[in-house]
Amino acid sequence: MCGIVGAIAQRNVSPILIEGLRRLEYRGYDSAGLALVGDNGLQRRRAVGKVAALADALAASPLDSRLGIAHTRWATHGVPAERNSHPHASRTVAVVHNGIIENHEALRTRLIDAGYAFESETDTEVVAHLLQQQIDAGSSLRQALCAILPELRGAYALAVIDANSPDHLLLARKGSPLVLGVGIGEHFAASDALALLPVTNRFVYLEEGDIAELRASGYEIFTADGTMQQRPVRTSTLSPDAVDKGPYRHFMTKEIFEQPVALAQTLQGRTAHGRVLEACLGPQAEALLARVRNVHIVACGTSSHAGMVARYWFEQIARVPCQVELASEFRYRNPVIAPDTLFITISQSGETADTLEALRHARQSANVAAALVICNAPESSLVRESDIALMTHAGPERSVASTKAFTTQLMALALVMLLMARRSGAIDAEREAELVAQLEAAPRLVEDVLAQNDRIRQIAESLLTKQNALFLGRGPMWPVAMEGALKLKEVSYVHAEAYAAGELKHGPLALVDEDMPVIAVAPRGDLLDKVKSNLQEVRARGGELLVFADAEAGFRDEPGVTVFGMPHGAELTDPIVYTIPLQLLAYHVAVLKGTDVDQPRNLAKSVTVE
Ligand code: G6P
Repeated sequence: MCGIVGAIAQRNVSPILIEGLRRLEYRGYDSAGLALVGDNGLQRRRAVGKVAALADALAASPLDSRLGIAHTRWATHGVPAERNSHPHASRTVAVVHNGIIENHEALRTRLIDAGYAFESETDTEVVAHLLQQQIDAGSSLRQALCAILPELRGAYALAVIDANSPDHLLLARKGSPLVLGVGIGEHFAASDALALLPVTNRFVYLEEGDIAELRASGYEIFTADGTMQQRPVRTSTLSPDAVDKGPYRHFMTKEIFEQPVALAQTLQGRTAHGRVLEACLGPQAEALLARVRNVHIVACGTSSHAGMVARYWFEQIARVPCQVELASEFRYRNPVIAPDTLFITISQSGETADTLEALRHARQSANVAAALVICNAPESSLVRESDIALMTHAGPERSVASTKAFTTQLMALALVMLLMARRSGAIDAEREAELVAQLEAAPRLVEDVLAQNDRIRQIAESLLTKQNALFLGRGPMWPVAMEGALKLKEVSYVHAEAYAAGELKHGPLALVDEDMPVIAVAPRGDLLDKVKSNLQEVRARGGELLVFADAEAGFRDEPGVTVFGMPHGAELTDPIVYTIPLQLLAYHVAVLKGTDVDQPRNLAKSVTVE
């Protein structure tokens, strides 16, 4: 989703802005642009497509400036086109924006009546003209911003500059993330700290309602009514190359192959002697969890699939009632939250607008005993607004298609579930030790699957001509099948559906023929025989099967049936381990088809608008 970069320095900021935009590419976008204040006033360069196109445009006619703002746009209001790309400008003012101004139509009408001409269809352009209107009436940029913010409905992270005030840059945050980078004699802004790592490792995370004025020599944070705010400066330990592809061709493969380490990191320090350590949820968790009798999980996309797997665990192992729901649905209904509920949100980014609003919606119920977030971004809005945060130590995830975030979310959810199971008395110490040992085995099992990458590449070739695929699983493997189908859709643009295998004969079986590969995840367990019967139904109709199954589960390669032997796992590891070949399969099909693997068309990594 839209990315913002801003800089004020005593050196030329255009290379800093371009590098920042490159580092935000992973968020998903369809055009890019920048505005700089130089000797000739306000200058803009904008280009549809990749940041590279903008860099080429800038190389063709270079701009040298000490103040600038830049943006990658993910189209919402108006098609991807140069006129709709940010920065948007009025006479001397330029603005970049992430979020949506919901009342832009009324503001636009008012501004047109006042004589302002619009060049774009965006909601953002009103902000440029509103600021200009205030400045023309004698306000400073700071006064202008404070005056117009109360008029804006919706969500925004804004960075604004005025050619007549070349010594400062202003920021405002409500609903969309924005971080301030602290340098020596220079200051920066971005949607995400990763964008600024080449120039600083010191960050201030702006909070809701914050406005900031950045100068080369310092900064101030305040609210629209002028109250000054103090925010901590945090030092990041990430190195600038933490976000490089290393020897990999794409971030997606890099992140798939990072999973053994990411899983081990998520577990590290959280278990000892066959027990999950209560301390992993923080000091106040004990008291908050004491009254919990129900679990309600809310998330979007891949993170919602992690919640769906966990629901089986919470009910089967911890014997705690558990509901799972999409955040976008939950936030707009009038939910009945069961008494003494642990409300869990799951989010890689911690900034997904629907998940954040779902949490705020849930907070209105007195039945929420505690809000827990499982998240990969420590300074994110969801972490700040939750009572308890359990971080997935997956490291930065740059591929739009989520991989290591998902498996580490499963690991974190298993830890929470085990704590609740112990508390509810559903498991004794021996069973807990057995389940903890399963989790500790996960990194090794994942490595075993990754070692078979070449075989999955070969299997991917056989899928290349297919337009559709059906994924099947039962129990906790059903959401794993959903995740496999989502990966294939996202990166290879192959239409894929997932079904609970028992539902096959209630409709999807009608689709099965030689052109509809059926991909099944079938570990050993209580449901294996049921899955086998479902797969017979597919074979009997000429459907081609690809089965990911325990090598000892009794499946054999035969014409029309390809079996991929999986390591022998267990109830807590199977959903994690069986996800890996599905990720690799989607990746290889995408590479063979030549899609833009890390930034699939139309998609965004961090969905900060609803
Ligand atoms: C976007 C991303 C997905 C992600 C979803 C939820 O759609 O492309 O990969 O699963 O948002 O994101 P979150 O950061 O809340 O996990």
